[in-house]
Amino acid sequence: MTVPVLVDCDTGIDDAVALLYLLASPEVDVVGITTVSGNAPARSCALNTLRVLALAGREDIPVAVGAERPFLAEPLPHSSAVHGGDGMGDAGLASADPSLLDERRALRLIDDLSREHEGRLRILALGALTNLALAVRADPALVPRIADVVVMGGAADAPGNRTPAAEANIAHDPEAAAVVLSAGWPVTLVPLDVTMPELLTEEHCARLAEAGEVGRFVATISDHYMDFYAPILGRRAAPQHDALAAAVLTGEVVPSVFPLLRVEVECGSGPARGATVCDTRGRYRGSPDQADGNCRVALALERPGAFADALVERLAAWR
Ligand code: BDR
Ligand code: CA
Repeated sequence: MTVPVLVDCDTGIDDAVALLYLLASPEVDVVGITTVSGNAPARSCALNTLRVLALAGREDIPVAVGAERPFLAEPLPHSSAVHGGDGMGDAGLASADPSLLDERRALRLIDDLSREHEGRLRILALGALTNLALAVRADPALVPRIADVVVMGGAADAPGNRTPAAEANIAHDPEAAAVVLSAGWPVTLVPLDVTMPELLTEEHCARLAEAGEVGRFVATISDHYMDFYAPILGRRAAPQHDALAAAVLTGEVVPSVFPLLRVEVECGSGPARGATVCDTRGRYRGSPDQADGNCRVALALERPGAFADALVERLAAWR
């Protein structure tokens, strides 16, 4: 039996790749997608998601618009430098038909799916955690209906990317992250420590461009993303943050250091706002699980740097 997955995301270049990866993965069944403000406004992210679903021939999956603002704080500017003004690399893609958006708002879709797939629904969170925090606050009984939550976000021992201390998804809504990471459901955190080295390169994109429509789409939207990352990495390449988290969810990517840790989110107004303070002090004795841990944190992978090859293989085989 395939596993039902709800994706909560801010599509977004790497979100789009993650969605295509999941749609190409027979292990899982994407049963709904909710969007949140982050890389672009939540509504634009939902329209971007529709473009991805049209490409995949999966317009049957409901897409619901979620929070346009953080849970409590003032919003940060959208990440247009990273993902382009339209969130998809400003590649001139045709816009989607807004009438295809689900009539339900994100919280309603999360609630409906959690009841339909009670105890089995897995959530993959690829953006700010606003929708999930609002859903938990609205109905704490949601928590036991969810099998687990896999979050692309945070930085354990690595630097942040939105600020020196904070990773973008957490930085967009630290108060929401604090709620979600300690809501009581099983949480897996896939932080920058493991996502930054998983690079789609120009060689990968050349292979994708030679493949079918899906491969060409990924190569096209990755162009802008590589421009952004070139000065950071010293070469044109694109870290696959969100697709890596998706692959941890499917089990294709296996973390080698994966302890249950206490993780606190810094919600103050100083320079560490949005930091995920992970208690990694156990590293000198093999990173054992902590009795008061609230998140299982991927600190290292069994095959570091190998994911992009597997990703390209899966996407290039598709139409
Ligand atoms: C995360 O932030 C967003 O820009 C990406 O889509 C990814 O989810 C990386 O920090
Ligand atoms: Ca994202």
